[in-house]
Amino acid sequence: MSRAYPRVILGCGNFGGIGSAPAFFGHGETLEQALELMDAAWEAGITWFDTADAYGGGRSEIYIGEWIRSRRPDGLRLTTKTFNPMAEGEDHGLAPARVRRQVETSLDRLGVEGVDLYLAHDWDPDVPVAELAAVFEELVAAGTIGAYGLSNVDGAQLAEALEAGAFAAVQDSYSLLDREAERDVLPLCAANDVWFQAFSPLAGGWLTGKYRRDAPTPEGSRMTMRPGPYEHLHDDRVYDALEELARRGDPATLALAWLLADERVSVVLGPRRPAHLEPALAALRQPLTQADREELSALFA
Ligand SMILES: NC(=O)c1ccc[n+]([C@@H]2O[C@H](COP(=O)([O-])OP(=O)(O)OC[C@H]3O[C@@H](n4cnc5c(N)ncnc54)[C@H](OP(=O)(O)O)[C@@H]3O)[C@@H](O)[C@H]2O)c1
Repeated sequence: MSRAYPRVILGCGNFGGIGSAPAFFGHGETLEQALELMDAAWEAGITWFDTADAYGGGRSEIYIGEWIRSRRPDGLRLTTKTFNPMAEGEDHGLAPARVRRQVETSLDRLGVEGVDLYLAHDWDPDVPVAELAAVFEELVAAGTIGAYGLSNVDGAQLAEALEAGAFAAVQDSYSLLDREAERDVLPLCAANDVWFQAFSPLAGGWLTGKYRRDAPTPEGSRMTMRPGPYEHLHDDRVYDALEELARRGDPATLALAWLLADERVSVVLGPRRPAHLEPALAALRQPLTQADREELSALFA
């Protein structure tokens, strides 16, 4: 895979749902809102879009497909993924026959002949990683995918996978409020020339400053819809750090600039409307110094 990785990727997990959770399929951004967001990202120079078969129960890929058909963008690059069920009760996992089927249905929804990057959306303990690598290699040879990688893996899983195949990218949660990747995954990626992509770079919106100590959760926000992954952040130490971050500048801009100041990291954004792109663009325009980065690292240690 080309080493010229973009630093910023448009995450399309909010299109037609909230990620892969069946309870929200049909919610999230509408087709019109998604088209507007993709137009704004493209105009801002963001040319790599990230989706998954199960986002919005297939709607995310369909909306991207509609954008491609109507805009015919030259140079668009795509990531999609598989693991999660496409609807409540449907099959999931990385069995080779399922992966072959899912990649075909993704290409149909997207209306393309191939994607640049295909990720295992989760680790499947029932499928040996060498078997997964073999099916991914088959898809590379067929020209269906340009490269392949993993998502939601820990260091031990990544090390095992790197022994088994040419996994070129990892997409894990990473932000000022989720530092787990620093321990094993980021160093392993750097040592093995694996592209690291940080998802939930704003910790699901927490790093925008929208959640405040002792204040009600804003209507329609992710914490009112799908709070599960972030409940533990209701903690005085987190609020102390967030309040200090806000004293230093726009929290979302600083949080994204903190990620981008590490050259090993690309960021998968989760905007809901065009204006949400501005913190990322501001972070690209005004990089943090290493000294500022270290101060923020310490603030959220
Ligand atoms: N591989 C995986 O398992 C995985 C998991 C999660 C995400 N992803 C990918 O990563 C992308 C980003 O993840 P994420 O959605 O969790 O990212 P995030 O940026 O941490 O959170 C997105 C949420 O933050 C809020 N937000 C974002 N930008 C904002 C801004 N400028 N101002 C105010 N609020 C803002 C919105 O919250 P409200 O909804 O409250 O308005 C939005 O829904 C997804 O679209 C998907 O492509 C991958």
